[in-house]
This record gives sequence, C-alpha cells and structure tokens, in this order.
Amino acid sequence: LKFFENRGHKIIPSSSLIPENDPSVLFTTAGMQQFKNYYTDSKKAIKDFGDLNVTTVQKCIRTGDIDEVGDNTHLTFFEMLGNFSFGGYSRRKAIEYAHDFIVKELCLEISYVTFFKGNENVQKDEESEKIWKEIGIEDIREEGEDVFWGPTGDSGPCGPTTEIYCKNSDGQDVEIWNIVFNEYFCNGSREKLNKGEATLKKLDILGIDTGMGLERLVTVVQKKKNIYETDLFNNEITKDERIVADHIKAALFIISEGVTPSNTGRGYVLRRLI
Ligand code: ALA
Repeated sequence: LKFFENRGHKIIPSSSLIPENDPSVLFTTAGMQQFKNYYTDSKKAIKDFGDLNVTTVQKCIRTGDIDEVGDNTHLTFFEMLGNFSFGGYSRRKAIEYAHDFIVKELCLEISYVTFFKGNENVQKDEESEKIWKEIGIEDIREEGEDVFWGPTGDSGPCGPTTEIYCKNSDGQDVEIWNIVFNEYFCNGSREKLNKGEATLKKLDILGIDTGMGLERLVTVVQKKKNIYETDLFNNEITKDERIVADHIKAALFIISEGVTPSNTGRGYVLRRLI
C-alpha cells in the first residue's frame, strides 16, 4: 500500500466479501469488484476518492478454484493486493510499477511474463510485449484466453492481461501478479462472451486493474514451496489438512460478514465449506 501511495495512489479499505454494487455475484472475487462502475465513469472516482488511482488489500472468496484447494497455490479465501486506475496512467506505467515493486523493492527475480495473443475480437497485445522487452525480461510468453480477464458477474469491464511468474523454493513457477488492461465493456457474462452471445465495446479510458495474491507473494518472498508453509499458515500439513485449514478460514471470514449457513445462496456456500 505504501509503495503505491508514494506513487500517487489513494489507499482505500477492502470492501465487504458481499458485493454492494453487483447483485450478479455471491461474493467479492477480485479487488476490482468494488470499482466496477469507475471504469466506465472516471468522474465518479474523482468525486468519491479525489483521485483516479487507488490501491487496496481486498478480501476475496473464490469458489471457482475449490477443486484446486490443497495444491501449492490455491485458496478459497485469500487477500488480493492491487493497484487500480480509471484513466490515470498508461500500460507502460502499470508494467513499470509492477516490475519495480517485484525486482527493486522485493529483490525477487521474474521467471517469465505473459501477454495476450489476440483473438477475432481483440488485437494481440504487442504493446505489453514491447514494454517487457524494453525492460529487459527475456522470457515473454504469448498466451490465449487465460490472459483475457473478466468480466465478473453478468457484465462489466474486461480486457487483456499480462501476468508475472516467480519461482517457489522448488523451482516451480507461481503466478503472483495479474495486470489487467480494462479496455472493453462486455454486455454479458464471460460464458456468453465465449459463446459469441455477448459483445465487447471499447471503453473511452484505459482502466488498470491488478491483482497480486498475498499468500503466493509471501510463498516466494519467504522461499517456501507452498502457501501453507508460509507464516500465514505456518505448518507442514497433509493435503487433507490443508483443505480443512482453507475451508475453516474461508468459513470464518464469510461468517464475519453476517452470513449464516442455509440451503440457498451464500449460506449454502458456507454450509458446503463447513
Ligand atoms: N482482476 C484481476 C484478477 O482477479 C486482477 O486476477
């Protein structure tokens, strides 16, 4: 937060795990969720925050990855570090901030980065590729739909991303940071977009939306093999115990928002976790 505050970002608190402005999702899954409306209305950002650039540590629940929980990198509840801009700075600046934070501030080595190879609707992200090359990153990989992010819920901002990978203590690559360029508004869900039932409209401003998983970053910084060996969990535990630890943590954070177990909606997710 300090790093980005020193670079002209306003620190904003995490929003609730229960999204206030997006009834189409049960839980907050990303840092950008509380800011969805600002990507289409930057004047509102100036009015609400006095700034076009903000930074947060956001509580997130992701049930989409639940079958992966227990491996080295996935959790149901996690904290997402992010910087966001609603027309305040360029692609180059967003990539330079990320590079400086990882390489100069934390003294980590970047293993490789990715950029979007393009599809029938969206051009190849040559600009990101060029910026990384100029910065001196050697392993720059072109990828497909995995590096086009969003929208969350029924509609919203979305766009190509560039991801940063670092190695864990076992030499495995861990995706630690996803930098999204919110250049489009999608009038349907991601599922509809993939089926050709929704369309993309170019936004007037370049939106920046980044997400860095605190637990994954700590894994790399503390030179561990997986998130459970970091001091956020601090234990050598079996795969089953990892899943129990994850589900207890996620359930506690959901309960702390006032949700109780039930047979529908959020309460059902909570019941299943328990
Ligand atoms: N919104 C992007 C993500 O969640 C940064 O990965």
